[in-house]
Parts: sequence; C-alpha cells; structure tokens
Amino acid sequence: MLAPLADDENDSDGLAHDRVQELLAPQTFDARDGYVRTGQQYCRTYWIADWPVEPREKFLEEIYTMRGVDVDVCLDVRARDKRATELELKDTIGEIDANIDERKDVSDVSAILVEDDLDPYVKMYKLLHHTQAQPWDLSGYVTVRAGTRQALDEAEERIEEGLANEDELTLDIAKHRALESACEKVRGTLESAPAHLTVLSPEQRQAELFESCSPNGRDAFADVSTRERYSLTLSGTIAAAFPPVSAYIDQENGVEQGRNVQNGSEIIKNQFSVAPGHRLTIGSSGSGKSYHVGKQATQWYLAGEDRTLILCDTMGEFGGLVELMNGQHITVDGSQTINPLHIEETPEDVLRVSGNLDPYDMKFTEARNFILDMIGDANGDFTPLVSDALNATYERAGILKNDVSTHKPENSPTMANFRKIVNDMGGNPGDYVDSELEKAQIKENAGPLLRRLSGFKDGGEHDALVGKSEAHIRPGQVSYLDLQQIQGLGAAADKATMLQLMLGQVYQAVKRAPGETLFVVDEAHYLFQSREILAWLQQSARHWRHFNAGLWFLSHRPGDFASADDTDMQEYKRAILGQIPTTEFFYTDKLEEQDAKERFGMNDEQLQFITQHAKRGEQGLGYTDYLVDYADVQGWMHAQVRASPFEDTVYSYKASEHGPFQEYIADKWGEL
Ligand SMILES: Nc1ncnc2c1ncn2[C@@H]1O[C@H](COP(=O)(O)OP(=O)(O)OP(=O)(O)O)[C@@H](O)[C@H]1O
Ligand SMILES: [Mg+2]
Repeated sequence: MLAPLADDENDSDGLAHDRVQELLAPQTFDARDGYVRTGQQYCRTYWIADWPVEPREKFLEEIYTMRGVDVDVCLDVRARDKRATELELKDTIGEIDANIDERKDVSDVSAILVEDDLDPYVKMYKLLHHTQAQPWDLSGYVTVRAGTRQALDEAEERIEEGLANEDELTLDIAKHRALESACEKVRGTLESAPAHLTVLSPEQRQAELFESCSPNGRDAFADVSTRERYSLTLSGTIAAAFPPVSAYIDQENGVEQGRNVQNGSEIIKNQFSVAPGHRLTIGSSGSGKSYHVGKQATQWYLAGEDRTLILCDTMGEFGGLVELMNGQHITVDGSQTINPLHIEETPEDVLRVSGNLDPYDMKFTEARNFILDMIGDANGDFTPLVSDALNATYERAGILKNDVSTHKPENSPTMANFRKIVNDMGGNPGDYVDSELEKAQIKENAGPLLRRLSGFKDGGEHDALVGKSEAHIRPGQVSYLDLQQIQGLGAAADKATMLQLMLGQVYQAVKRAPGETLFVVDEAHYLFQSREILAWLQQSARHWRHFNAGLWFLSHRPGDFASADDTDMQEYKRAILGQIPTTEFFYTDKLEEQDAKERFGMNDEQLQFITQHAKRGEQGLGYTDYLVDYADVQGWMHAQVRASPFEDTVYSYKASEHGPFQEYIADKWGEL
C-alpha cells in the first residue's frame, strides 16, 4: 500500500495510487455550494492566498492545537532553484520599480501603494542573497469539518441558550451551524496575529479545494485556476509553518522517565542507547533532582537482569531505597576494613572489547598512588621503592601481571604484606635488585618508608586499611556509598584518599559486573574538589563504555562543571562533560545566559523556563518540571516527574528527617 505514488494516471504504477486513494478516500463525496459533504461530515476548505516573508516561529501553532474543532492543514511544497529565483526577483523588483517611477512622474499617489508591494520582494531578495535561505513554492489549504458530534454539541449549546428549540433543529441544520461556527473560529485564527494570513474559500470551488487539501489528492484547485496558486516563500516560512513536533520516545529496554509535556506521552528511554551511558542532572537545591534519580535508578535496576546499581551521596538520601532493594549500605567512616590492594578478576569479554586495557597496571597505579598519598611523598624520593615493593608484594601473593586468572580477591595481598616486603627489601636488597647503587638506595630508604607506614600496623591509625576488605560493592546488586560521616575523617587529604579507595572498589565492581552498571553520584561537586578524584572520574567517563557502565552526576550549578582551581581540573571537567549524552535541567537559578546558550544549546524560552518557571518539588504539586536533552533525540524536551503515592513515600524519605526507614514506611503506609 505504501508503494511510491504514481504522479501520472497513465503511469504503470497507477494501481498503487488508486489503491491508496481507495483506502483513504471518503466513501461519499458530495460538493454543494460553499461546502462538501463526505460521509457524516460537512466540510469547508480555505486556500491560503498569501504567506508572510518573515513569520513568527510556529505561527500556525494555534490552528494545530485548537480544541473542539476538526481541522486539516495541507502544505504543498516544491523546491526552486536559488540562482534562478534571485534573477526572477531582480526582474520583478525592476518592473515594480519602473511602475512606481511612472506613477510618480504623473504625480499619481497610488505610487505609495505600489511601493508597499515592493517591500516583500526586496526582503526576500536580500534574504536569498545574503543568507542560507532556500526558495520554495508553497501552496496551503485548511479544511474545517463538522460531524454529528460537533453538531450535537452545537445544538445543545443553542438550545441551552434559548436560541433554538429541539423540534425545529434537525441534525442537518445543526451540522451546518456547527460548520459555520467552526469556520468562524478557524478563519479568525488564520487571519489574526500571529498568522496574519489571507484566506479564500470560493463557494463554487469547494470540491477542488477539498481534494487539494487531502494528503493523497491532486492539487485540483491549482489545476482549475487561471492564476498561479503557488507563492514563492523561503525556507524560514516553511519551517515556521510546521506543527510543533515533539518526539514520542519509546525505546527498547527503556524505563519511564516522566511525561513529555508537549504531547502527553510517557518518555520510555534507555540511558544506554547512546554509549557511554552517562547522564548529568543539574538543579538548585530542592528542585527535585534526588527524587528523580531515586525513582529512575530504582526503576532501571528493577527492570533488567544482571544490573548493578551503585549510589553515592553525602546527604544520606538513598538509605531508604537501598533498604527497600536489599542493598548494601556502606558507610564510609573508617569503621569497615577496606583493603587498598584488593584486586578482582577482569572478565574475558571486558578484556576483549577494551583493547589496550591493562587491568594489572590500572590496579597497580591506583594502589601506588594511594600509598604515596598516605606517606606524603612530595619529592618523589620513595616512588621507586614503593613501586618495586608493590610489584613484589603482588608477585609474592601469586598475582601476575599478564595472567588475569590470578587477579582474585582471595589472592589479594594487604598492607601488612606490603610492609613485610619493604622490611625484607631493606634487609636483603640483593634478592630484589642487582646493581650496588640500587641496593644502597633501597637500604637507605626502606627504614624511613617503614616509619611512614607505621600507621598501618595493627592498632595503628590506619587500622581499617589493613586486612582483607569487608565492604564490598557487589556486582549484580545495589550498593550505597554513604559519605555522610566522611566529614569526621579529618584532613581534606585523608577524605580524598578514602574516597579514592571507595572509587577503586567501584571500578573493581564495574569491571566484573555481569550486565549494565549505573554509578550515581549525587552532590557531585563534593567529589569535584579533589584533583585526583576528578582525574579518576574523567578517566572513567572515557573508559566505562567498555564495561557497559554509566556515570550519573547530580549537581547544583552548571558552574560545578566549568570553573576549577587549575587548568588540569578544568580540563578534566570539560572532558567529563564532553562524554555525557544525556543532560537534564531542573529549576536552576544560577544558569548564565552564555552557558545556557553556548554550552547547552538552549534558546531564550528554555533558559527562562529553567531559571523562572520550572516547578520545584516543594510546592505540593505532586510533580516537578525539567528539560532534557538526549543525544539521540533532537532538541530540549519539557518533561515532568510524577510518582504514585507509594513511590512518593519512598522517594521522599530522608534519613535526617524521618528516622529509621522501616518505621517511616510502617507509619506512612502500614506494614509491607
Ligand atoms: N516529582 C515530585 N513529586 C512530588 N514531590 C517531589 C517531586 N520531586 C521532588 N519532590 C519533593 O521535593 C523536595 C525536594 O526534592 P529533592 O530532594 O529531590 O531536591 P534536590 O534537587 O535533590 O535538592 P538538593 O540539591 O538540596 O539535594 C523533596 O521533599 C521531595 O520529596
Ligand atoms: Mg538532592
């Protein structure tokens, strides 16, 4: 049925044409004076006689969204040659100009009117000449319909208003009246601002007009007309005449993201449809970010097999969710043992797709940097010794660089093993290096290094970092890195070191996770303070596509992703931003015009919406507004987050306000 239409009746493909017409055409078609009757409907068609040269954006929107009136709009567009059109326009302008001069010569005041005629041609000529605008021939029709439903509505209204009584109102009359009032409305809209069109509806030509407005009919009206029915327009006019399009997003393996406000559809989107599956959500405090991410992350986790969800924040907002999903709540406060040397096997398929990835090197670098951070090796004096000792520690534990099958948690050495090796190296450097020079250097440095590592003794300051890891992020499950207590961990450097260890664990889990992984970082600006963590994040942002893993950052200001203390950090942020295919804005008071336009590609209306009108979470409305930009969908889309009452109870939970989760739920909802 959808074979290309034959444009000529004699064409051998004409059958296809007939078939489409047969399927789409009205069963009866009866042209009268001033209207056409088709089936149960009465219709009138208008021809648009004149198009604006520089119309306002979406100037026909009111027609497309008009309620209670049945309208069809048909735009017939034919391409023209740009160069030829320019020449034609030049001629026309010349002719009109000559005409004006003639009239002026004989002091004819109508010269002024003719001057007005010149205006659109000159404008068009300039636009064609100076811009990318393309010329088109455009013809447009609008058909208004009234059927039984409209007739009954109309009749009811008239009877209620006492303008008619039931006995004298036949359905036929009612339909006529319904058509008249619908036409009045449509015509009024077409002729007034912002459209300002001139429309014609010749009574004797309704049959041809009706056919011309049908998507599969001929342009019968142009065929029977003596004058040209197509007008020259530029691409801007055609673009502005189109209905506001808004995508229906319904992707495979998608999760409901909220409601598309423009067409009322649910957005079913798969965050991983464009790799890497990263996402950025920006919004002022209280705008609804955490609520949204809680809902999305939960739905995403529950919707698929083998998914791993890791949540991380400093506000304790995800405690409830994690409890609900039987997740692991890992409180980063120094009470649980974390082994900085812990290593896990990288699955074969990950190695295969990730090309030059060297899992041993990555772990080694992470562990070495951790140790150097802890001992405060500003001058790099200890770097060679730490590196040698660390390699030896792994080797002694049976972990070999080139044999991933040895990279097992149970093989992982600990900081206690590392200290032992350093000790041994100091005593027997000959077992580790050959040259006398190196031996001397090791002998000299081993003692001081051991002293700096004294916090890693049993009962030492870093007790919690000695021994096998207790806190595990488990692939295939939900884990929550709760950073609320991290403030109590002392110096900023210690916090950053602790965070890096946690991130190391995240990486080990991401690497081994059986399916997709989502790592949600709420209050991301907290992690952005440290250069090392930023470096780690930007490296992850680039590499995680190999693991089917996505990072989801939540932050208050777009500025959190721009300004930084130094150029490296700035560069890291820029790199992270460049890897993110999904960006969302909730209400954001601090969105600079330049950022909005240049970095995020918003227009004035969108900027205004986000900084002024978007509804926040705290207004008791039961929804929040946001704009979202997906790499695989054109433009920013306005959506709303809503939740069912039970979901609302869960996502509104805040440990700091509501106390233990179970009691909170039991109180609000009853026992589950
Ligand atoms: N879609 C929604 N429907 C109903 N209530 C909502 C919705 N979104 C958010 N809220 C409520 O609005 C409040 C603020 O939301 P939320 O905590 O998600 O904001 P936030 O952007 O994370 O703020 P902050 O940056 O301070 O953490 C919460 O009390 C939450 O329960
Ligand atoms: Mg929040």
